[in-house]
Amino acid sequence: MGTTRRELLLSTSALAGASLLQGGAAAAQQSSDPLEEEVAAALNVWDFKKIAQQRLSADSWDFITGAAGDEITVRWNREAYDRIRLQPNVLVNVAGVDTRTRLFGQEIPFPILVSPSGGHSRSHPDAELATARGAGQAQAIMTVSTLSSKPIEELAQVATQSLWFQLYMIRDRGLTREIVQRAEAAGCKAICITVDTPVIGARNREQRASRRRGRRSGPRTTPPHLTGYKRPQSVEGAIYSSTLDPTITWKEINWVRSFARVPVLIKGVLNPADAQRAVQEGLSGIIVSNHGGRNLDTLPATIDALPRIADQVEGRFPILIDSGIRRGTDILKAIALGADAVMIGRPTLYGLASAGPEGVSRVIQILRREFEMAMALTGKNSLSEIDRSVLWEQPFSRG
Ligand code: FNR
Repeated sequence: MGTTRRELLLSTSALAGASLLQGGAAAAQQSSDPLEEEVAAALNVWDFKKIAQQRLSADSWDFITGAAGDEITVRWNREAYDRIRLQPNVLVNVAGVDTRTRLFGQEIPFPILVSPSGGHSRSHPDAELATARGAGQAQAIMTVSTLSSKPIEELAQVATQSLWFQLYMIRDRGLTREIVQRAEAAGCKAICITVDTPVIGARNREQRASRRRGRRSGPRTTPPHLTGYKRPQSVEGAIYSSTLDPTITWKEINWVRSFARVPVLIKGVLNPADAQRAVQEGLSGIIVSNHGGRNLDTLPATIDALPRIADQVEGRFPILIDSGIRRGTDILKAIALGADAVMIGRPTLYGLASAGPEGVSRVIQILRREFEMAMALTGKNSLSEIDRSVLWEQPFSRG
């Protein structure tokens, strides 16, 4: 089989294009995108997920939705949010729900950012350019991955909102430094160093997909930020990548901080002791993440890890969280348990694959609106009013 819905679409629109040349009005109808109505009718992230699956090839779908091992953490990421029950306050005047907040001196209209993910060219022909446009339309900050299919300079040209940059520390320190400096020169407002990936996890679905793709299309192209990178001829040990540096420690994080001119955060913290160390080292913030379940299976859901981390950090720097956020109520829960803002990974890609910039923007706006509804329906007017009292059961607390 192997014919994807997208290939089918492309071939039917090519056919329709030929008939249009012959002036057929019926052909014009045929050329319309059969998923367009579904896009227009989409109401939530799950609707966009369904459309994305129809749009994408099986390989791209597996790349985006796949996770590590038996994909248990990715399931827990959802189950943990579903398990938490909310406790509303009624008879509160909620005519002034206001989701504004500040991150590193910048006011943002709502606490949702786009998580970094590589290779958006697999989801849309305009790749990260479309994501940046969509995030801009929705007024959200996008974090651009080191493995982006478009260079940061091009993204900065189309972005209408701030960009952040995600850094994978690679084996070539000179190039690592150059990447950070390129991101800063392009105007990125923060650097998030991903620290949960000294090696890549056992992503079996992605491995199978890339073998299938490799057979068809040969070796993959180098992401633009890594152009010129001279990979070591051979890397000892089967688990190590020729790109990612498995030796990095707090020392290398401080090395980046020594020349970075924007706030530096680390992404992928789950252990309260690491959060505490990040405070002591003077980092600007952390992102609580299990990489969307893509690296180490059976790590806990991030929302389960958050309360202990928030108790350690005690508000000394911003805490962001990702992995599993699909509903406005999830955002309310994350804020209640100590996050300052949330980030969304796959939902962005579902929007991108479904409808390009428009899809990205719609997904963010849907989550924003759902979050506003959740605030109003629990009796909260501002983020500072959201605390653990909005949860039916109180989680672990220190002391
Ligand atoms: C990612 N993620 C990721 N993280 C990172 O730091 N650098 C990267 O290049 C990527 N690439 C990437 C690709 C794809 C296809 C996915 C789905 C994810 C992880 C990402 O930033 C984020 O942590 C998770 O996606 C969050 O979980 P949800 O929202 O997808 O459940």
